[in-house]
This record gives sequence, C-alpha cells and structure tokens, in this order.
Amino acid sequence: MPKVTFVNEGRTVEVEAGTSVRYAALENDIPLYCMWFGLSKLANCHGNGLCWTDRVRVSPASAVNPRTPLEKTMNQIGTFPKNRSPQTRLGCQALVYEDCEVYTRCKPKR
Ligand code: FES
Repeated sequence: MPKVTFVNEGRTVEVEAGTSVRYAALENDIPLYCMWFGLSKLANCHGNGLCWTDRVRVSPASAVNPRTPLEKTMNQIGTFPKNRSPQTRLGCQALVYEDCEVYTRCKPKR
C-alpha cells in the first residue's frame, strides 16, 4: 500500500492504491481546507473538482494519476504560475498509486 506523507503536518499514512489525497487527509484528521480563513471547510464542492479549494503539492508528480480535465482547466485559467506546476493538484482529483509527499496549504498547529 502506498504511503502518503503530509509534510507540513509531519504525518505519514498508508492508503489503498487509488485513494484520493483528499480522502487520505480527511480520514486522518489532516486539514485540507484552509482557504478563506477556514470557510472553505464548509463551502467546498465535496470532492467534485469544482471549487479548487483543496489544492496541494504532490511530490513526485508521477506518484498520482495524470491531471484530470478539470485540473487542466485550472491550469489554463489559473493566473498563478504555481498552478501550472505538474505537482499542483486538486486533492480530490489526485489518486495515489505510489509513495509521495503532500504539501497542504494549511499551516500546522503547534
Ligand atoms: S473539493 Fe472542490 S476541488 Fe476538490
């Protein structure tokens, strides 16, 4: 089973191959929705790839499935260069197949 290391949180979890990064995070109480002062925790699309509030960075990019059409749209519309990075993914669309590191947008609680 692949291991997902959430770097900012200092946690590593094992998941079934094909599990989304979003599911891996939420099942292990790792915060994924931190945009808009945390309001995105309530106001998100629940994994349908439409709200873009669960953006993460996955390394290596080859550990997850290729970008979905929804993510390719994000790539085209996104004005920020970091959205164009192959490592920038939507947590709900990125399916884990190999060990990887995930950087969430949330600041860890200390
Ligand atoms: S939950 Fe909305 S894009 Fe992933």
